[in-house]
Amino acid sequence: MVTNFLQKYQLQNHQLILPKKQFITYALYALVALAFLHYLLFYPALASGKSVVVAQVQEEVAAVVSARVDAPEQLLPLPPPPSPNQGDKALGNRQGRALGFPEEVPAPPPCDYSDGEWAPEARPPLYNGTSCGTIKDGQNCMAHGRPDTGYLYWRWRPRGCDLPAFSPEAFLRWLRNKHLAFVGDSLARNQAESLLCLLASRSPPELAYRDGEENRFRRFVFREFNATVSVFWSPFLVKVAEKAEHAGVRHNNVFLDAFDERWMSQLGALDVAVLSVGHWFLIPGVYHDGGRVVACHDCADLNHTETDFFGVFRDAIHRTLAEVTRRHSDGAGKKKVVALTTFSPAHFEGDWDKTGACPKKRPYRAGEKGLGYTESEMRKTVVEAVRSGADAAGAGSGLRFAALDVTALANLRPDGHPGPYMNKDPFGGGGAGDRRVQNDCVHWCMPGPVDTFNEILLQTVLR
Ligand SMILES: *[C@@H]1O[C@H](CO)[C@@H](O)[C@H](O)[C@H]1NC(C)=O
Ligand SMILES: *[C@@H]1O[C@H](CO)[C@@H](O)[C@H](O)[C@H]1NC(C)=O
Ligand SMILES: *[C@@H]1O[C@H](CO)[C@@H](O)[C@H](O)[C@H]1NC(C)=O
Repeated sequence: MVTNFLQKYQLQNHQLILPKKQFITYALYALVALAFLHYLLFYPALASGKSVVVAQVQEEVAAVVSARVDAPEQLLPLPPPPSPNQGDKALGNRQGRALGFPEEVPAPPPCDYSDGEWAPEARPPLYNGTSCGTIKDGQNCMAHGRPDTGYLYWRWRPRGCDLPAFSPEAFLRWLRNKHLAFVGDSLARNQAESLLCLLASRSPPELAYRDGEENRFRRFVFREFNATVSVFWSPFLVKVAEKAEHAGVRHNNVFLDAFDERWMSQLGALDVAVLSVGHWFLIPGVYHDGGRVVACHDCADLNHTETDFFGVFRDAIHRTLAEVTRRHSDGAGKKKVVALTTFSPAHFEGDWDKTGACPKKRPYRAGEKGLGYTESEMRKTVVEAVRSGADAAGAGSGLRFAALDVTALANLRPDGHPGPYMNKDPFGGGGAGDRRVQNDCVHWCMPGPVDTFNEILLQTVLR
């Protein structure tokens, strides 16, 4: 069936002329999406053993994943254990910078965060699996028994500039009397929950509102600062009728010409919107525009022409930014930052449901692990949309678009995913063996590399 799938693609996608390697990456994503992202993105709360994915599909994924074994990879050595002095010094320096800022924070200079390397860091994260109460179960690697801790001691060092450590104080002061919202899929939620934990290390948030299954809509308030952080579920940004496996609907029906008012209607009240989507475009979808089906991804069972998802992704992003700009200029024109987090790569290395699906314990070195074709295209789409959105909005409009360009730095962190620790004590105290176990190699452990996304967010809002 894998072969059929590939043939179908080659036959039906005449425009899609890709070199073989790129094509394999593309097909891999399509299949991982089919069999697992699917599962992971939809049923994160199911207990293990209730897998909705049939064994045959698992085998297909395994076949394609193993076809994509990359060149031998070197890993960074683990950082030396911090000596107490060293630790203090690092702590002093970084905290000094964080806490000793003047009332008026000077705007940091522009920085290209997409080029850099992970460097050892002695300072521990600002929170841990027990100190923060809002970590989603599936991402609480510490509480779920992940034994290694080396993945916590790295910081991103951009090549041409400095990325200061996260300062909860600076962020909360900036957010005083403001409202920041995350809008998107489960990676948006992952980043939102990281920010909540980082800020909670300074001031406790209160849950002010909650709605929807899986806490899809939430609002938190940091009373001391009257600072609001909300989370909106909107995996395509535009309107969608989500698939319902139980009712036999395995495709999302996405409406490119209709906006998702669940968050769009709140725009006027927001000072910052962080949009983060991408992975849901890789799973089966039918795309509508003007009452017609214009695209269909993973459509073997429907009477529509199969297309890729890059075009509709670009379309959804561009239309969303254009609509944000339109509503901004119609409204009171409250100053606003709209930041888009670029695609966050997954790191499956073998069978997704076996021990060791993302087993690495250290980051890759700079330049050692190139970006896959899909990741690179998804990132580029966002970066270009931000650039053209900014041109269209114009300076002086009070509306600023920015890309949180995390794709490259996230690509170098195969060690940062929950893997089997998406479930508590996955090996039940016994040895790992080669038994079947669910692995999350898409989302990020908390604390973990996703905290760096918010270090960049802080620099972005201050700018
Ligand atoms: C987590 O952080 C709290 C508060 O800082 C601390 O008391 C606790 O020892 C930490 N736990 C771990 C496992 O590091
Ligand atoms: C609190 O913050 C909200 C924005 O989230 C703002 O509209 C409101 O005016 C603020 N309250 C005060 C007392 O400043
Ligand atoms: C599929 O679509 C074509 C063209 O619209 C139509 O002629 C054909 O009857 C359809 N087949 C099925 C099985 O619906």
